[in-house]
Amino acid sequence: MSESVEQPELEAPPGEVTAELAEDMQIATGTREPILESAGVSMVFGGLRALNEVTFSLKEGEIIGLIGPNGAGKTTFFNCLTGLYTPTSGSVTLRGAPMPQDPARVTEAGVARTFQNIRLFPSMTATENVLVGRHVRMKQGPVSSLLHGPRFRRSEAEAHDRAEKLLAFVGLTRFADELARNLPYGDQRRLEIARALATDPSVLLLDEPTAGMNAQETEATRQLIFAIRDLGVSVVVIEHDTKFIFTLCDRVLVLVQGELLVEGSPDEVRGDPRVVEAYLGAPPDEVEAQIHAGEES
Ligand SMILES: Nc1ncnc2c1ncn2[C@@H]1O[C@H](COP(=O)(O)OP(=O)(O)O)[C@@H](O)[C@H]1O
Ligand SMILES: [Mg+2]
Repeated sequence: MSESVEQPELEAPPGEVTAELAEDMQIATGTREPILESAGVSMVFGGLRALNEVTFSLKEGEIIGLIGPNGAGKTTFFNCLTGLYTPTSGSVTLRGAPMPQDPARVTEAGVARTFQNIRLFPSMTATENVLVGRHVRMKQGPVSSLLHGPRFRRSEAEAHDRAEKLLAFVGLTRFADELARNLPYGDQRRLEIARALATDPSVLLLDEPTAGMNAQETEATRQLIFAIRDLGVSVVVIEHDTKFIFTLCDRVLVLVQGELLVEGSPDEVRGDPRVVEAYLGAPPDEVEAQIHAGEES
């Protein structure tokens, strides 16, 4: 963790900004229609079958958890969903239309993600990092930026206003003018989420958002993801922390060696003997302890 910025108390969980942001982002909510789907997605690297016929459906307003041992294919699945990888076979659709095979166009279509390994611009401020996300949504091209006409200034003002609200939403207002690299690790993860939200996504994919966080930061992130869902964004979360997943998600998918082993509500997944048996390949007692860890809270 960086020493250059002292770490005060976590800011209060997002409150009234949520309603205002939801209005700004104008996301259609509450239909419970499938929004992001995969059908029989397989991904083969050389001789390795990283994904085998993965079929899933994310509904509007839903939070889905994706768990499974290291190397199960979770990140590969996100890469297939977001156009970084073209699946060897199978299809990915967004509201029934084929997903573009190009990450920039996937973003435009309304799918945003964060990365297992944080990808911020370390020498830019927190605000500037969010503005980078915002700019994919702005119509002003480089020529108009050079001319700095009134329309440019208006959309710049709008972008700054949104960046400010998003930083408040994720609890990082105090770091607005701080370089990203000076932020504590957990706050860098939150900043990445703010940048992803700046693209006005309908779907947000989070790859291990609480990796490296302490218990307090993990809980703040859980509340943040609920608030993101309340904005009208549908969410898929990869995490190792089963307590976190079981207390956050509407549905949980268990991926083992590229195959979807089990799918169901947190209670169904927690009680499934196949999960207890296969999850992490750890000794049964340890798996039991890990799988039931979520029950205490
Ligand atoms: N670009 C790639 N080239 C070759 N193998 C890859 C590539 N990406 C992932 N893999 C392999 O696919 C498997 C699944 O990896 P990954 O999706 O990162 O798993 P997880 O995120 O569940 O830990 C691993 O065996 C990994 O080495
Ligand atoms: Mg991964």
